[in-house]
Amino acid sequence: MPYPIIFDTDPGVDDAQAIAIALRHPDIELLGLTTTYGNVNIETATHNALLLSELAGQSIPVAQGAAAPLAKTKYPAPAFIHGDNGLGNIELPPVSGKAVSQSAAEFIVDTVNARPGEVTLVAVGPLGNLAAALQLDPGIIDKVKHVVIMGGSIKEGGNVTPVAEANIFNDPHAASRVLTAGWPLTMVGLDATHRCVLNPDHMEAIAAGQGELGKVLAGSYAFYAEFYRGALGIDGCCPHDSCALAWLIKPELFTTTKGHLTVVTDGDAEGQTVFAPAGRPFIDSRWNRTPTVEVCTGADGGAIVEWIVDTLK
Ligand code: RIB
Ligand code: CA
Repeated sequence: MPYPIIFDTDPGVDDAQAIAIALRHPDIELLGLTTTYGNVNIETATHNALLLSELAGQSIPVAQGAAAPLAKTKYPAPAFIHGDNGLGNIELPPVSGKAVSQSAAEFIVDTVNARPGEVTLVAVGPLGNLAAALQLDPGIIDKVKHVVIMGGSIKEGGNVTPVAEANIFNDPHAASRVLTAGWPLTMVGLDATHRCVLNPDHMEAIAAGQGELGKVLAGSYAFYAEFYRGALGIDGCCPHDSCALAWLIKPELFTTTKGHLTVVTDGDAEGQTVFAPAGRPFIDSRWNRTPTVEVCTGADGGAIVEWIVDTLK
């Protein structure tokens, strides 16, 4: 039976590939795309979400969401990683569709309430939309099936600061609410996504299998790959956001453990996710007081990349 999901996203090159998986995988029922600022501004995020589903020949509701963090000052979008248009500055075809009139938070609340116990939220950008949905209707905590977050880091260190991963750093206050809300949650962070590298041969196979959508995925990945070559010295890219969907469909490819998360919201460590393993006592209870969640501590990167390519080739 397919997994009904809402995909919350800031597309973004790696988001685009994950959206393609969500649109194509036979075991995923994509109920809607909710958009957030992050890799791009909110208007561009919504434009790209509409474009990608149109290129896949599908009409999926797109609900626009957060334009800025809850509390902190917004940093400029990382155009040097994703391009000014979020898709590697390649030329893009026109979009005909429009976002629905509901906000992202309203869409999440209405959709979860319409199918209690069924809907999984997969969030791969800053977490303002999920935080807003929680504020609008805390009752969704008991009605979602699961929440999967691409974000955070346990032992891997950060990618935008020495300790913080980008999605959590972009809105640590929202992340704190979402990661400690008490709903069933799995965090797929850099400890897993940095084990996965998509190389140019993989991208060629994906481009060949995806028609017009494939051209956008491959063209934008070429730009993203330049960033990885310069920053990490690798010939390929980490498909961060696709890993959240890989966890949903193939959890056996990940190493996981349970415990408590806290998010640092201020100071030099802002955006850090601090993990206290379940059952391990510390000097006081502050690190153990948040609800138990699941975190990924590692992954079979080769098998995950194979799954991504098999899904899209
Ligand atoms: O740190 C990786 C995350 O930051 C991914 O979601 C990527 O799209 C960027 O937003
Ligand atoms: Ca993202």
